[in-house]
Amino acid sequence: MGSETFQLSRREMLMSSATTAAVSSFASETAEAAPPVKAVPTYKVAMTVNGASQTLTLDPRTTLLDALREHLHLTGTKKGCDHGQCGACTVIVNGERINACLSLAVQHQGDAVTTIEGLGTPERLHPMQAAFVKHDGYQCGYCTPGQICSAVSVLEEIKRGIPSHAQADLMAAPKPTGAEMRERMSGNICRCGAYSNIVDAMADVAGARA
Ligand code: FES
Ligand code: FES
Repeated sequence: MGSETFQLSRREMLMSSATTAAVSSFASETAEAAPPVKAVPTYKVAMTVNGASQTLTLDPRTTLLDALREHLHLTGTKKGCDHGQCGACTVIVNGERINACLSLAVQHQGDAVTTIEGLGTPERLHPMQAAFVKHDGYQCGYCTPGQICSAVSVLEEIKRGIPSHAQADLMAAPKPTGAEMRERMSGNICRCGAYSNIVDAMADVAGARA
């Protein structure tokens, strides 16, 4: 073995020892500094989902969206932004639409939740689902379950006389006009830009002109 080869090997060996010593000292400092990990308590949550009783044992930090998708495997409800900004996660709870990503599952003890899977089936589409198909109210389909749940709720809100600021007269009964539906659907974002067809589909179900 030449002295050049020997020197190289010796340098490598010293560098390797120094690195190992630094890593193990960092690891032991980190281990000393780390607080003990406490088990998170879990809670039982009972709710009705699409007409079926469900009882889940959940970390209290679980959102309704994750409970539906990860625990009940109802993946029709989509996770877009996970921050309440896109509407992809819209579901209907006790007759009102909500963003499931902004709501903790433990807040829904005893609630009735309807997801896109509970609205209709491929054989028996909900009228809003059928209208979306008829009017091409989607392209990639990612936002569609949330759009449909929202659209069903919007027509219900209009029927119940709940006003929106798209109305000139807040005391008058709202009508399913294009402006009214656009305003009420503004929380549901569609990156494919299927908006005008979605309004056509809603107008069809409402028996109105968009
Ligand atoms: Fe809930 Fe975007 S995923 S609003
Ligand atoms: Fe693609 Fe709406 S259909 S995001």
